Amino acid sequence: MEIEQWIKEAYKAAKNAYAPYSNYAVGVVVALKDGTLIYGCNIENAAYGSTMCAERNAIYQTYCRGYHKEDIISLTIAVSGNKIATPCGACRQVLAELMDSRTPIILACESGYEITNIESLLPGAFLQDNLNI
Ligand code: THU
Repeated sequence: MEIEQWIKEAYKAAKNAYAPYSNYAVGVVVALKDGTLIYGCNIENAAYGSTMCAERNAIYQTYCRGYHKEDIISLTIAVSGNKIATPCGACRQVLAELMDSRTPIILACESGYEITNIESLLPGAFLQDNLNI
């Protein structure tokens, strides 16, 4: 499966977003080496701080199903409109630990996409090895 297909699937994931406060739906698909696709979307809450982003829902779900960073081919994030969504700071921190630093991250909107990775999105991340020095 290739990028255009991952983007299409990420838009499908966005359809399940629960975003009555922001009206900003985000969809994510994590593509795995065994062909499995894991879907995530943002889920908001009246206590705004309890909201969970699409990226973390998708990557946590990936691990909940027994997969790990070695199993991931790509992570694709899709939003409506013409401005790409880049993961928030909290999601970058989580992705830095749960994805390989150079696994492709595709940022898509209706007018196009960019390919990046977590090393570029969060250089110098605080990781497990920082705790062991
Ligand atoms: N959101 C995501 O799910 N991912 C992003 O990359 C940016 C923000 C969500 C959180 C909230 O539900 C809404 O988008 C507006 O911030």
